Amino acid sequence: MKITLHTLQKMTQDREKFTVLTCYDATFAAILDQAGIEVLLVGDSLGNVIQGEETTLSVGLVDMVYHTRCVARGVRNALIIADMPFGSYQISPEQAFENASAILAVGARMIKIEGGRIMADTTRFLSERGIPVCAHIGLTPQSIHQLGGYKLQGNTDETAKRLLDDAQTLEQAGASLLVMEMIPARLAEQITQSVSIPTIGIGAGPHCSAQVLVLYDMLGLYHGKKPRFVKDFMAESQTVQQAVTNYIIAVKTGLFPGKEHEF
Ligand code: KIV
Repeated sequence: MKITLHTLQKMTQDREKFTVLTCYDATFAAILDQAGIEVLLVGDSLGNVIQGEETTLSVGLVDMVYHTRCVARGVRNALIIADMPFGSYQISPEQAFENASAILAVGARMIKIEGGRIMADTTRFLSERGIPVCAHIGLTPQSIHQLGGYKLQGNTDETAKRLLDDAQTLEQAGASLLVMEMIPARLAEQITQSVSIPTIGIGAGPHCSAQVLVLYDMLGLYHGKKPRFVKDFMAESQTVQQAVTNYIIAVKTGLFPGKEHEF
């Protein structure tokens, strides 16, 4: 069954969690799609895991178009969301529309942009013109130099309130989905309860409508120390297919993320 935004909204209403993994090529796209992952995110994390860069800042529109096209060739049912890369949407809503259309033209069905209330006008401009938007708040890797590192966000009363307001503002502006990265589990729960759009957590505890991980992380292919919110599903699996199926089961039954993965 082809997954649509409506499918994800219905699953959220029915309190069934959906699963998201990042994906960058056709072979993995086919594996994830056949396993039943509902959403494939062509993340600009490809800058880290494919291109070997320290940050996502060097990823360009041409990279996102190339990888989105590759993923689209492997997918039958999953909904493809693609990241708008750094510098391709921050200048103006018009700039965002022009660049988002290039990504939609090669198979994405939604785009993701990082940022809170500052992105409300752009979110409204895109969604009113037929481009579904997934918002992304909390740790936003494209702002890494301003955030001063890959750190927990929303861990003071003031910053938590700001994130809650951002989530509500983005929903009102027309965002269809909301990614929350590296924020306290209690705050993610509060935000999930206060908006009606599905929320997708990464390092945001178990109370989100869905979970996302970087594919390479959940297959144990990370360099150095494993981030707290990552689980290596390959450790107890014989094949990639089995690891992905175990991820789906763990998310849907509430086994992942566990206490040891949350902040
Ligand atoms: O680029 C990416 O992989 C992401 C996820 C971490 C949410 O944005």
